[in-house]
Amino acid sequence: MKTLLLAGGLGTRLRPLTENLPKPMAPIANRPWLEHLITYLRDQGINQFVIASHHCSDVIKNYFGDGKRFGVDIEYSDETHQMGTAGAIKNAERFLKERFLVVNADIVHLPNLIPLLEFHEQSGGIATIALTEVDDPSSYGVVQLDDSSRILRFVEKPRREEAPSNLINAGLYILEPEVMRYIPAGREVSIERETFPTLIQKSKSVYGKISSGYWFDMGTPERYRKIHWDVLENRNPLPTRGNQVQPGVWLGKDTKIGSGVRFIPPVLIGDNVEVGDQSVIGPFAVIGDHCRIGSKVHFSNSILWDQSSISDNIRVNNSIMAYKTFLNEGKVYDNLILNQYERVMQA
Ligand code: GTP
Repeated sequence: MKTLLLAGGLGTRLRPLTENLPKPMAPIANRPWLEHLITYLRDQGINQFVIASHHCSDVIKNYFGDGKRFGVDIEYSDETHQMGTAGAIKNAERFLKERFLVVNADIVHLPNLIPLLEFHEQSGGIATIALTEVDDPSSYGVVQLDDSSRILRFVEKPRREEAPSNLINAGLYILEPEVMRYIPAGREVSIERETFPTLIQKSKSVYGKISSGYWFDMGTPERYRKIHWDVLENRNPLPTRGNQVQPGVWLGKDTKIGSGVRFIPPVLIGDNVEVGDQSVIGPFAVIGDHCRIGSKVHFSNSILWDQSSISDNIRVNNSIMAYKTFLNEGKVYDNLILNQYERVMQA
């Protein structure tokens, strides 16, 4: 079965991290989320992928190529402009002649596919939408199901007390090719707001099935950080590379740790990282490969992507610094978000 990965959104809520990077390529625990996703789905038996992208699509192509390095086949569906979630599916029609899977590539979702596929087979519907249960559905598209799990209606971002259920669209669909007939070509179309409601209005059978497995939307900086803490505190089963040198502290290969350095768990440090004397790393710290941390640095509640540097005597809290960033000496930084290559020098 082919899987279409939707990776062409602009990721506006995660800017500036996504200015030069597709959101699904943002690293989670020091590896692009899209790599985790592809290898996770591969291990569930999926080995043919089509990636639909537009914004910074070369970043994805250069990283994955034809997919062989990851043990899968990858084809690319390029878009000349933003097409929306259903527009991107329509644009990839030539790749999708049989039943296919669609996955929003910016959601950290580790579904168990077999029950979803079996349900779709048994229900005989035109579409099965994977659902996830959330405490507060008010910022999502909520579904109302009948007793046979057929979707009766969608309610976009209802007030909490007016939500018909706590079940929301998890951003993973099993679709029959017939769905293509209901997506107009040549313009932006949203599958959530337009295509699924149209199918229901035309009495086509659209079903919902609860997906087990970790689910979290990485859309905002706070949520992006939260996913990391879920990985480090074992609420998310993604692998943490490196040796666990004390409970909740993982160190990669070839790290050089200075004297008097204190790690406050949870902490994940990549390969070939230097940490200067008397620095305090954590709690809640992720540091990518090839990073340099000076001495007497305090780094907490923060994520540093590969090849970045922090000079001596700096405090960093609640921050995210993208690839190849640099912080100069002697300051306190809180809620800092740096785009790739940004350098912050002393004022
Ligand atoms: P925000 O701008 O922060 O809302 O993020 P987004 O637009 O990237 O994400 P959104 O939640 O709106 O999109 C859901 C999924 O569909 C994500 O995986 C996006 O990458 C993807 N997506 C959204 N629009 C398009 C599009 O026009 N083309 C393609 N190929 N994918 C899209």
